[in-house]
Amino acid sequence: MRKYIIAGNWKMNLTLEEGYGLVTEIKGMVQDEVNNSAEIVVIPPFIHLSGVHNLLKGSRVKLGAQNCHQKSKGAYTGEVSPAMLANLGAQYVIIGHSERRQYFGETNALLAEKINAALENGLTPIYCFGETLEQREAGKEFDVNFDQVSEGLFHLSDSDFSKVVLAYEPVWAIGTGKTATSQQAQDVHAFIRKKLTEKYGESIADSISILYGGSMKPDNARELLACKDIDGGLIGGAALESRSFVEIIKSVA
Ligand code: PGA
Repeated sequence: MRKYIIAGNWKMNLTLEEGYGLVTEIKGMVQDEVNNSAEIVVIPPFIHLSGVHNLLKGSRVKLGAQNCHQKSKGAYTGEVSPAMLANLGAQYVIIGHSERRQYFGETNALLAEKINAALENGLTPIYCFGETLEQREAGKEFDVNFDQVSEGLFHLSDSDFSKVVLAYEPVWAIGTGKTATSQQAQDVHAFIRKKLTEKYGESIADSISILYGGSMKPDNARELLACKDIDGGLIGGAALESRSFVEIIKSVA
């Protein structure tokens, strides 16, 4: 059985006070209202991690980070290592979000190194992939997504690959209000799972959670999450407000 995961990526939003307020609300609502077994993760900016970790004590809500460096330590001014994130209580780290690829020039080869570093430090990577609108209109979405997944992850051994979470995030759907239809999302998820089966075999491929991200909201979450190969959501905008985030969590059957 695959795990359903609902993860809220705050991106570069919220002051410390706003972040603490949000996580306190989420913690209370999850305790009072959520009775499914979804894994719930909040992913604030680095500087919020320690305080949010303290606030989450005693809660089922887990902590993640938005990025990490590919080395465990060293002279890399301005960077944060996966060892530091694990030490702060983070259990997950997003690797290869399209905003990192687009604005910070992160390549599949670099992301493969980050995946290794995250795993070496006991973090669960949430590896993002997704095509741009231009690539989709040119009919290249399957090729592009396969290249991102295979170049970032297929060097991993069976046991390391089993620890990874994937997230399909079509770039044209992120922050735009345009969600992929559940059929468009399911088609890509099923295609990627087939590729995982070819590479790692059916039992590993069937155990990997593949999340969908891109304008997931309370009013479309249920339909997306009901698709056979969609195992959760990576939520941006709707994760910045406790009520909408918790309603998405409650959409998991
Ligand atoms: P969005 O962002 O929900 O605001 O579209 C999703 C993401 O980038 O992870």
